[in-house]
Amino acid sequence: MMKNRSVKIGRNDLCPCGSGIKYKNCCRNLKIEMNIKEEYKKKYDIRLKELHEIEGIRKCGTLLMSILNQVELMIQPGLKTEDINTFVHEQTIRAGAVPAPLHYRGFPKSVCVSVNEVICHGIPGDRVLKDGDIVNVDITPIMNGYYADASKTFFVGTPTEKGRKIVSVAAESLKRGIGAVTPGATLGDIGYAIQSYAESQGCSVVREFVGHGVGTDFHEQPQVLHFGTKGKGIVLVPGMVFTIEPMVNLGKKELHVLEDRWTAVTNDGSLSAQFEQTILVTENGWESLTPYEL
Ligand code: MF3
Ligand code: CO
Ligand code: CO
Repeated sequence: MMKNRSVKIGRNDLCPCGSGIKYKNCCRNLKIEMNIKEEYKKKYDIRLKELHEIEGIRKCGTLLMSILNQVELMIQPGLKTEDINTFVHEQTIRAGAVPAPLHYRGFPKSVCVSVNEVICHGIPGDRVLKDGDIVNVDITPIMNGYYADASKTFFVGTPTEKGRKIVSVAAESLKRGIGAVTPGATLGDIGYAIQSYAESQGCSVVREFVGHGVGTDFHEQPQVLHFGTKGKGIVLVPGMVFTIEPMVNLGKKELHVLEDRWTAVTNDGSLSAQFEQTILVTENGWESLTPYEL
């Protein structure tokens, strides 16, 4: 009887692909990556992105940020929310891209514009911005089939004390959520970082709307909750692309949706602010594909 000599390749053996470097530093990684990719698809329906897809999302994110930065310059008392829609729509089309919100599940416009007590999904229209308002503008272009999703909340004219407070807490909440992103951390770590900070400032975190996988579709898996428990939830791995987009209220977290079936507003009428970026999990941490300072 021959001894069974298995042909298992050791981690420190030369790679059979002929690269001349150790198996563990070469194709073993690929094999593991393939397995993780299949595992995340099967277990969670999460599509880990390849380099060329990340490149596509990053390009879309660059367009998004150029439009969002131009919108910021337009914001002033007297501007109609409809004017923001017209501008975002035209700039998106001009760049050869498509505004993802338009006709998405019946949404009638090309951008979400959410003023004061509106938490999210505000429909642009005849509302006129006035001094002291806060306004969130949430943009999602589709470019060459790739999606990027980001938003900022702006001051209109001179900010009020309450406006300053909620915008600052919402921005810092996103900053802390992003700061929790690194391979091996969990979705719960992100939610915990956001919730613990926002609540420590006496604010509340909206539960009904969450961040989401993004890139080859508008809303992919996983859901990214803005509240949670350290160490709980799916483990982050390189190639995951998702939004973090905490909605933070100055008062209570409860909300209702208006007759238009989109506009979400705080039940207590308190101010609500939101910041959103599209985040890639990298080997070392994270990269924003819609970068701006927080
Ligand atoms: N941009 C929003 C998000 O962050 C989604 C808007 S859906 C729409 O997920 F239909 F209202 F545009
Ligand atoms: Co989003
Ligand atoms: Co968005």
